[in-house]
Amino acid sequence: MQIAPFEIKVERPFIIGNAAPVIAALVLLVAACAFPRNTNAQAAGFHDAPPAASKTKNPLAGNADAAQAGANLYAKKCALCHGDKGQGVGNIPAVAKNPTQAATDGAIFWFITKGAVDNGMPAWASLPENQRWQIVTYIKTLGSGKSPAPSAKASADADSGPPAGGPAPTAPFTDYRFEKPGATRKITVADLPQPYATSSAGNSPKVVPRPADAWPKVPAGFSVQQFATGLKNPRLIRTAPNGDIFLVEAKAGEIKVFRGITAEGKPQQMETFATHLDDPYGLSFYPPGPDPQWIYVGNETSVVRLPYQNGDLKARGAAQKIVDLPGPGGHWTRDVIFSPNGKKMFVAVGSGSNLDDPDTHPSEKNRADILEFNPDGSRIRIYAYGIRNAGGGIAFDPQTGELWCSVNERDGLGDNLVPDYITHVQDGGFYGWPWWYMGGNQDPRLKGKHPELKDKVITPDVLLQPHNASLQFAFYTGKQFPAEYQGDIFASEHGSWNKASRAGYEVIRVPLHQTGQASGDYEDFVTGFVLDNGKVWGRPVGMAVASDGSLLFTDDGSNSIWRVVYTGK
Ligand code: HEC
Repeated sequence: MQIAPFEIKVERPFIIGNAAPVIAALVLLVAACAFPRNTNAQAAGFHDAPPAASKTKNPLAGNADAAQAGANLYAKKCALCHGDKGQGVGNIPAVAKNPTQAATDGAIFWFITKGAVDNGMPAWASLPENQRWQIVTYIKTLGSGKSPAPSAKASADADSGPPAGGPAPTAPFTDYRFEKPGATRKITVADLPQPYATSSAGNSPKVVPRPADAWPKVPAGFSVQQFATGLKNPRLIRTAPNGDIFLVEAKAGEIKVFRGITAEGKPQQMETFATHLDDPYGLSFYPPGPDPQWIYVGNETSVVRLPYQNGDLKARGAAQKIVDLPGPGGHWTRDVIFSPNGKKMFVAVGSGSNLDDPDTHPSEKNRADILEFNPDGSRIRIYAYGIRNAGGGIAFDPQTGELWCSVNERDGLGDNLVPDYITHVQDGGFYGWPWWYMGGNQDPRLKGKHPELKDKVITPDVLLQPHNASLQFAFYTGKQFPAEYQGDIFASEHGSWNKASRAGYEVIRVPLHQTGQASGDYEDFVTGFVLDNGKVWGRPVGMAVASDGSLLFTDDGSNSIWRVVYTGK
């Protein structure tokens, strides 16, 4: 498929709320920062809490014993999803920050009582009122930096992890106990269960240090080396035209560069290329080809570029802003990539929520889309839409010139809905979010909305295990692996919280059969990051092919980069 035509279309395939790209561009430029993650919170108080509830006084406010009891309850009931210090996990919001810290005690009490069940936040009405106020009292200490620590017993209870046993999953669905290098998988629309066939799980990974005897597992003939470790939240990686490896350390706001590979499989040189970026994730060299002049970086709310020439180990100058992006809040990763001819820039912007209807939530405008721009940031166009979050990875297939993406689908409908996916992307294509999902299935939480879109929903090329949290991928263009791997996709599956028994936490191979076309099959390629007790030590994120044909992937569980080599043994 040609990526052309590159002229701007004057209309979108249908109206989501912003009708024309011109308006879209204005909304984006003028109001990118005007929509907080939760517009309701701004317009009508915290999560639409009624005024009377917001004004209710916390009978335990400031009471140290209550805060201690709240810390113990929080460790057992809330930490799994919101993080042990309330810092947030994945796209589950922080409670140690705004908007929760700015909300009144009464509003927080009201919200946790009711929950937001459709979005994966349980209702806590079953906890005695006194305990709910204890939790609120504790949460309010999190903003101050002077919070009581939970008791050892409460932490131990919270630490027990999910059960390792349980019934085996029903094929084609699987979990970590059955993930094995070389195992093949195929999920079709006909395999999908009904919504709520199982309940919505709260099973955030407990990340533990890698035990001495744990190591990534690969198919026969391959072996794995630890390329680098001690990194700061390593996320996306891309190989520069000269073979240097660029790594985005997202939460540190830094970019590192690695040069050369020693006989032991370590980098010969490592430098910090840039610092003080603002939640960076995406990174691409521009123009495409052998002689780039810039490195473009996808920050959470902007695309910026740094001057670069082959061989640079430090940015030649300060970051220049190219364009504002929607956000902050919700999905924050923004991969950036250029069309092979360098004429267009593509930016994947995930949704701000699990399922907020863009018709009624202006904060979802220009989100859950792949956006197209000129490389100077002008002329925004929505290239494809209804893609809940492709921010973890987009890339052009060097063989066919087609744009592909790796997508995190929605939560809250049960263990085996909705499959994540990897697919080539059609210009103007609609992939369902939030009203529909693959196979013309309507999301029961938005019943009756947009019937005219039912037949437009594209079924993606490769359906993955639901809640895999599929992130960056790379096309294998190296010469080291056997010929059958030429052109195949390798993708990192980060794993997520919304499945009772873990799936993901692996690297997969999507064979393209030397044709550039997927058949829907994929294979487990690197596994072994989940321990028998369900605790997790590694979480793959980024993926790149090194210039020697080895495969590099990042892991923000052990803060490492791993290198897969083919030895033939
Ligand atoms: C199964 C995972 C899960 C558990 C367990 C959980 N939460 Fe949540 N919580 C969420 C999700 C998901 C949201 C976002 C909901 C939304 O945006 O509508 C959320 C939102 C919130 C918010 C609003 C934050 C914001 O920025 O809007 C508060 C406050 C909160 N939770 C408190 C708690 C407390 C207190 C507990 C324990 C009693 C708890 N949560 C347990 C998943 C969870």
